[in-house]
Amino acid sequence: MPHGQHLQWDSQALWHELVPLLPGLSVEVLASVDSTNTYLLERARHSSGRRHEDSQPCLLVAEMQTQGRGRQGRTWHASPRRSLTFSLALPLDPASWSGLSLAVGMALADALDPPDGNAPPRVGLKWPNDLWLMDAPGRGRKLGGILIETLAVGERRMAVIGIGLNVLPQEAGAELSTGFACLQELQPQIDAPRALRQVAAPLVRALKRFEQQGFAPLAAAYGRRDLLLGQPVTTTYPGVPQGVAEGVDEQGALRVRNDGLHTLVSGEVSVRPRTD
Ligand code: BTN
Repeated sequence: MPHGQHLQWDSQALWHELVPLLPGLSVEVLASVDSTNTYLLERARHSSGRRHEDSQPCLLVAEMQTQGRGRQGRTWHASPRRSLTFSLALPLDPASWSGLSLAVGMALADALDPPDGNAPPRVGLKWPNDLWLMDAPGRGRKLGGILIETLAVGERRMAVIGIGLNVLPQEAGAELSTGFACLQELQPQIDAPRALRQVAAPLVRALKRFEQQGFAPLAAAYGRRDLLLGQPVTTTYPGVPQGVAEGVDEQGALRVRNDGLHTLVSGEVSVRPRTD
């Protein structure tokens, strides 16, 4: 990107806001990187794990990713200035990791689309890691995604939480197979730095709560944003090609009913609303 066209991230203000929650945090902004997740994973992998700073938290924002990654080995496409792409690496020690991507999704959705009484939410969650803009019950377009990876650093485990959000409309031809939605449809004045300021602290707080309490306290609230709830779905889960989604359990596993009730844990499973 030519000089002068960089966005104003105000990383200093962001750091001041976040460091009381995450002591030792650094906030870094790169004009271009292959993938913010890959970069932080590599950095942690090459550390010895013996020094204190090896497991210090880092929030890394990239204005552009050349090899953005999605779940299940997919490519994540994002355009400079039109998307927000960042990763947060931090040591995390929850009793169980299950439901973490749902807890992250809830934090992002609540920050971008605060609950408004009984009004139906605009931002929905498609199990296990997508944010969608809801057009009608069970129908929506993809707004963003979450890619969580973990690795051992010395005695501790680091989590790298990667977030990609569509902020402004994409260039023609860059639409997704799932349909494309962007934050500007919710907030006309939004840009990528503002979106980051909205979600960063709620994300950190949610991670700290998750570390203490896991997903269970969020299970009921998840139901309000559950895009799949009550919908016919197709899945790649062995033996459950299709069924009706019946919400998530206290571990964040998806319940799907066909001839019986099946519990799908996230892993490499993919679930889609059935369109027929
Ligand atoms: C998905 O929907 O499959 C998850 C997409 C996650 C994309 C983000 S963008 C920032 C971080 N760096 C990556 O390479 N991927 C995640």
